[in-house]
Amino acid sequence: MSRDTAIEQDLVRVTENAALAAAQTMGFGEKMHSDHVAVEAMRATLDEIDIAGRVVIGEGERDEAPMLYVGEEVGGRKGDPDAPQIDIAVDPLEGTNLCASGAPGSVAVLAAAERGGLLHAPDTYMEKIVVGPTARGSIHLDAPVPENLRNIARAFKREVSDLTIVVLERDRHAQLINDIRTAGARIRLIPDGDLAGGISAAVRGTGVHAVMGTGGAPEGVITAAAMRCLGGEIQARLVALDDGQKERLAGLGYKDLSKIYTTVDLAQGDNIVFSCSGVTDGELLRGVRFFGGGTRTSTLFMSLRAGIIRFVDTIHREAPTTPVYFH
Ligand code: FBP
Repeated sequence: MSRDTAIEQDLVRVTENAALAAAQTMGFGEKMHSDHVAVEAMRATLDEIDIAGRVVIGEGERDEAPMLYVGEEVGGRKGDPDAPQIDIAVDPLEGTNLCASGAPGSVAVLAAAERGGLLHAPDTYMEKIVVGPTARGSIHLDAPVPENLRNIARAFKREVSDLTIVVLERDRHAQLINDIRTAGARIRLIPDGDLAGGISAAVRGTGVHAVMGTGGAPEGVITAAAMRCLGGEIQARLVALDDGQKERLAGLGYKDLSKIYTTVDLAQGDNIVFSCSGVTDGELLRGVRFFGGGTRTSTLFMSLRAGIIRFVDTIHREAPTTPVYFH
């Protein structure tokens, strides 16, 4: 039986600490500050781990992000050729607005893999469709919405009207929302957080069957890492929402915007690890709870190689006398 390694388990602490830091700012109405403290905590914890890490999806390019920028070396053994060489995709606070307003669904998340195991996608947008293992193989990004919905419904052995599709509530999705409604499926409009939506779609019992629409490309890569671990599927395509973004993508060498990226294109590694800790309460994960003398975090940890999916419920005690509650 394969097992996860100590390093993999250490990564749980990375998202736990980012979540703990961000959660302390919940509802302050300062999303930049919430993001900043999560980034600092994640960066500091990564440096405690015995790895030579490299950020491939991060807080932006070096000139715009002081920490966890793309290309930054992280980890306690950075630069050491004998240390485990790991590529890391981070989103220290996914759903900054949600945390700033105390709304549900913000998480601290990272995916890691061997070198080259995660696509270095540009910090732009992606059109995405995400489904879990049940509907894997029955979608196509270019298929008309009603056809995708019919095929997802067939995979679940139910009617289209029994499906719930998560869509980011954005003006750009007016046509998509209209198409889903016309086809008869139900919609859950979310203010932010299509990454967490994608994970929900891949877990039976959440009541979510797919995510559709355009969101961040970095979130797309991290979603793909989660789908590799959960057996789900994402198809995605880089999208320029205006001329400026088109120029930016062209400048980065992305001239053909018709290419569809599959789950494996986005996250091709064999040793993918994923860790996601709740900041505010969400569908799968509780947010950080503060009970005076301690805190409690809720984390989803997955290792593709070890075939492990763990829900990690951690009590962080400030004193040995801190009471422990069962619930
Ligand atoms: P932040 O955590 O950076 O605020 O992003 C949240 C998010 O809603 C993502 O989940 C989503 O992919 C993206 O923003 C959508 O971008 P936009 O808000 O520009 O439509």
